[in-house]
Amino acid sequence: MEKANIEIERFKKKAMYYKKALNLCPDARILEVFNIISVLDGYVKDNELDKSSLCIVDLMSGDGYLTKYLHKAGFRNIHSFEACNEMSFNSENYNNSGIKLYSIPEILEIEKIICNLKPQIVISLASFHHLIIHDKQEPKKVNTIESLNLQEKVIDICMRNLDDNGLLLITDIYDNVESIEEYITSIPFWNTFDSSKLLYNTLNETEISTIKKSKNQSNFNSIIDEKFTKYSFRRNPSINWFRQIVDKQTSIGHSDFAINRSLIEYIKSNYIYRFSTFACPWVFDNKGHLKNFLLNKFGFSIDDNSIISDNEVLKEADAINGITDIQNNRVLFGWNLSMTILSKTETIYKKKTNKKRTVFILLLLLLILVINIVMNLSFKLYNKELIAITNSLSLLLLGYLLPEAFSFISKTIFNQK
Ligand SMILES: C[S@@+](CC[C@H](N)C(=O)[O-])C[C@H]1O[C@@H](n2cnc3c(N)ncnc32)[C@H](O)[C@@H]1O
Repeated sequence: MEKANIEIERFKKKAMYYKKALNLCPDARILEVFNIISVLDGYVKDNELDKSSLCIVDLMSGDGYLTKYLHKAGFRNIHSFEACNEMSFNSENYNNSGIKLYSIPEILEIEKIICNLKPQIVISLASFHHLIIHDKQEPKKVNTIESLNLQEKVIDICMRNLDDNGLLLITDIYDNVESIEEYITSIPFWNTFDSSKLLYNTLNETEISTIKKSKNQSNFNSIIDEKFTKYSFRRNPSINWFRQIVDKQTSIGHSDFAINRSLIEYIKSNYIYRFSTFACPWVFDNKGHLKNFLLNKFGFSIDDNSIISDNEVLKEADAINGITDIQNNRVLFGWNLSMTILSKTETIYKKKTNKKRTVFILLLLLLILVINIVMNLSFKLYNKELIAITNSLSLLLLGYLLPEAFSFISKTIFNQK
């Protein structure tokens, strides 16, 4: 416990600057949350859930960046957990809003609270890589075995307290692409109907309509790569930024344990999983805003005598992440994350396919019944054998549809899950 808190101490030092960056450019990270909310909206739609009562835990919520956007997107049962008080948002501003903030002494303590919540969704945004244990001999170094162990423990806590049809979503930076490429799968949920409204403060109508057309997350990535970034997200700009710039050019650094093969292997052997990487460039009104955001968010501003000049930070940002000009002086800064989705069962992914199958069988049954009736009524078309076949086929299809119909009726009447 004591060892993990080194990281919290580091956040105490960074908090003021981190919050300043987010206040200065509150919509810069909009494409991160757009991705998460499009996936959640897809999950809600495919599983026919009620968005406003969906129980969501925002793990390591910091200043509440994701929490606040979840609220804007219409979610009203949000539980935000944070261990560093200096990082937390002011919960008094959210009285009666459907947002509840929990101050936790340390990460493993969450179980005492979430065991009563039984959340349908647990999300962690840009935080999991901070679950690290430092080396005893060399405190500046991360102990990879102990850090992996801590992350696995947190996953297990979340999974055993999750609703049976729930999801754990870890949205985070990841190790270099080649090492995890083989784990990439498609992400089954995607619905941009509501989430695209969140983009209105930041992007123009043409940009929004281009993004809104994305059919799934992978299609979204292609659109971003083609139209909105200097370098492909597959260059993994986020991890390179930390390793090549923040670690080397700030005194506070950014030691971390990003999503990697070992963690995905653990997840794969214990849970049902989906894994993807996605582009989420940060959006700024102009280059000046981008510069101030980077200087504050990544701790350059903490150093009295900076190792690197402000303009050099911008130069490196362009070389490593890519700064892309878009209309009206606005710029995009190349950023990317991974999304790991864990569930207890495969069934949540099959619901949409099942629904399509049911509709198809219903239409087929109607067609067979029409043929059957026409043959029975028409003297010319009457055919005893064919009528017998359509009778049997109708019974067979009814046999499939009846349990579906009963479950639909009981769900509607008794509001069962
Ligand atoms: C980069 S911030 C992200 C905050 C927020 N999710 C967001 O996207 O803006 C990481 C958060 O994780 C918390 N954190 C870091 N290490 C932690 C640990 N060992 N236990 C619990 N929380 C930790 C920090 O206090 C911080 O608020």
